[in-house]
This record gives sequence, structure tokens and C-alpha cells, in this order.
Amino acid sequence: MINILLLGSGGRECAFAWKISQSRRLGKLYIAPGNAGTQQYGTNVPIPDTDFDAIKTLVLENNINMVVVGPEAPLVKGIHDFFLEDEKLKNIPVIGPKKDGAQLEGSKDFSKQFMQRHNIPTARYRTFTKETLTEGIKFLETLQPPYVLKADGLAAGKGVVIPETLEEAKKELSDMLANARFGEASAKVVIEEFLKGIELSVFVLSDGNSYKILPEAKDYKRIGEGDTGLNTGGMGAVSPVPFATSEFMKNVEEQIVVPTISGLKKEGIIYKGFIFIGLMKVGNKPFVIEYNCRMGDPETEVVIPRMKSDIIDLFEATAKENLNEYKLEIDQRFASTVMLVAGGYPGNYDKGKEIYGLEKIKDSIAFHAGTKHQGNTIVTNGGRVIAITSLGGTLDEALNKSYGSASKISYEKKYYRNDIGKDLIPLLH
Ligand code: AMP
Ligand code: GLY
Repeated sequence: MINILLLGSGGRECAFAWKISQSRRLGKLYIAPGNAGTQQYGTNVPIPDTDFDAIKTLVLENNINMVVVGPEAPLVKGIHDFFLEDEKLKNIPVIGPKKDGAQLEGSKDFSKQFMQRHNIPTARYRTFTKETLTEGIKFLETLQPPYVLKADGLAAGKGVVIPETLEEAKKELSDMLANARFGEASAKVVIEEFLKGIELSVFVLSDGNSYKILPEAKDYKRIGEGDTGLNTGGMGAVSPVPFATSEFMKNVEEQIVVPTISGLKKEGIIYKGFIFIGLMKVGNKPFVIEYNCRMGDPETEVVIPRMKSDIIDLFEATAKENLNEYKLEIDQRFASTVMLVAGGYPGNYDKGKEIYGLEKIKDSIAFHAGTKHQGNTIVTNGGRVIAITSLGGTLDEALNKSYGSASKISYEKKYYRNDIGKDLIPLLH
């Protein structure tokens, strides 16, 4: 039996906890810090996922045999390195890359250079600092609108701005570099060519040597229907993606996944963990928009429910570097998830609103994102509150179940998009 510690507290972690709890090989599952949903599948421990000393104590006191890392922050801060450097922790596998691999997400400049070194298709770009601001402005003048400006470091998903006019782009660049709009994260700014196409997310699990491609997903990032308004962490997702044909996915594997894995190896980066590849399909060609060193949220909420095989076996194969022997079984049905959020999100919103109706959900799984227990009730505790996932023989069926369930949950100022997946339905006929 294996005792697992899962780090994180979102919908992604709730989906992982749900799946891990189904494994016949699970001893005890701990989640730090978790949410009201993860508590159904294991034991929440109220410590931050970046407090390495507290994590060490927890792991040693509870005989934890494996650590699965959900979000990027502990990875970029070096949780995996911390384990390897500690006499008592070094033999406990961590699912998630070391600091060197996490740079794929931690630094846009690093990831763009990596793609260039390994001929991985991506938008043309240049990187600028405060010292080269004038050159940056000149570079903008050579590009066509809209303009894509990316803060180099982690900026809580807000570090990408896409101004429509040259004037706004120049102002934005100065703001990021000279006025440190995103603090240290925008000490460097990547400016890149705008790619016109349709986005999807591809997930790869690497054991440092071989890899497995998981089901792809499409995420809906904007707050408003018809992809309008501010960017969010993600308002819903579907998997599989109808336009990710087998021919397209073969191109993704050959042109992107293989050179990424071999590039990491060539650079001496032993990468054991998830690689989330944000892709733009331009015509029939894939281009990398970004790498993340973790699974996506809410994509995990549709990818994991489509996995039929045991997830502890999958993690163990990753730790033992025999992923190529693991047989990944995928449910052929469609999965959809609809994110219920707090009114006002991604701007200011309230927390602590009581959530009603969870017990009425029968056709879907309610993966909690921002929730917590308050006495005997469950209350909202974040902008993204609950992801409602459903499976169906058709995309329509999955979506109908998710929307049916979404209407049964209530809390003050509940909001969700009504058009998740709807753009894809015509592609299926
Ligand atoms: P991120 O915050 O890194 O997920 O990026 C935010 C969004 O910006 C992406 O999901 C894309 O929709 C968009 N984006 C980033 N880079 C480009 C690009 N080169 N061309 C077009 N859109 C982009
Ligand atoms: N859904 C996008 C992300 O996890 O970054």
C-alpha cells in the first residue's frame, strides 16, 4: 500500500484526489492544503504547498511514500530538489519536475530559447529588459497588430497582454519594464508574433526518459460567453477535442513532443512529471504558445475522468522510469466540465457564501475548486468555486449533464458560461 501526499488546493487537485482514492493500491491520501472536496477522498492538512519544512515533517510523521505536486509554485521553488537534497527524503519520489525543468513554465525567455534550440515550432520572438526598452519599442514597430507581450516570470496567469494598437503596446511594454507592472516577473519581457488559429492543450507525462501522451483538451479562458472579456484561470473544458484529428496529433507528437523530451534529455534535465503544452493550431500546423510544468486546471477535470487505468501505477512508472511499459487506457466518451465561479471574478469577488444543492448532483462529478468547510456547511473560498464534470457518448450529452447539474447548485452571485463546448458541436456533424 502506498501513502500519498498531494500538494495543492484547486479543482485539479480535487480531480487527482478523486482518481487516486479509487486505486486499490492506496494506503492513505493526504492533501495539503486541499479544499472541502478533497476532504471526501483523503485527509486535508492545513499547510501551504510551498512550506517545504512543514511538508517534510508531514511526510516523515505519516510515512508518506510519494508526493504528487499539483500547482507550479512549489515546483518552481524547488520542492523536488529539496527532497533529493535531504538524506531522509531523497528516496521518496516526487511527481513533478525539478527546478531546472520547471523553468519551462517559470521563465518564458528560457522556454522560448529552449524551443529555438530544439527547432520546436513557436511564434517568432525577442526578449527585452529595462536597459533595452528603446529597442523593444522599435521591435514593436516592425510587427503587425495585435501585439503579444509576456512577462518572463510567474505572474499568477496574468502576465500575458495582447494590445490591439501600437500605442497601447508601447505603453504596456514601458509599464512592464520600467514600472515593474508585474514586479520581478516583468524584469524581462518576451514580445512575440501573434498567431491566428484555434487553441488546445496537450498533456505529456515524462519519466525523464520515455513519455505518455494523455488525452488532449480545450479550455475556455475568457470570463464572457463567445470568448469575450477578461482572461481567467479557465471557465470550462472538454476532451477529446474534435479538431485534434489523429493526423494533427501525429504532427504534435513528431514536431513537438519528441523534440521536447529529447531536448530536455540533451540538456541534462531529468524531467519526471507533467508537461502541459499550450498549442495553437494554425491551419493544420501546431505551434507552442507555452509550456507549463504541471497539469492544466480545469483541463485535469476532463482528462483524469477519461483515464481508465490506475493512476498510482502511472505515477510509480514515472518514478521508476518505466512509463513505456505502462498501458494507458482511455475512455472513448466525451468529458465536459463547467466551472461555477464567484460573481465579480476574475476581478473582486466575495468569499464565504454558503453553497447549496451539492447532494442533488447525480449525473456529474462536482470537483471542488475554491471551497471550504465552515462548521457544518460548505462555503465558497475562491474565484473558481466548483467544476462540474460529466461524461457522455456525445459531446452534447456530456454538456447537457454538466449544465443540468450546474443549475442544481446555488450560492449568492453564482456565475458560469453557458457556451462551453458549443463551438465544437458543429465540427462533429
Ligand atoms: P497564458 O496566460 O500564458 O496562458 O496566455 C494567455 C493567452 O494568450 C493564451 O491562452 C493565448 O490565447 C494567448 N496567446 C499567447 N501567446 C499568443 C500568441 N503568440 N499568439 C496569439 N495568442 C497568444
Ligand atoms: N487552464 C489553463 C491553465 O491551467 O494554465
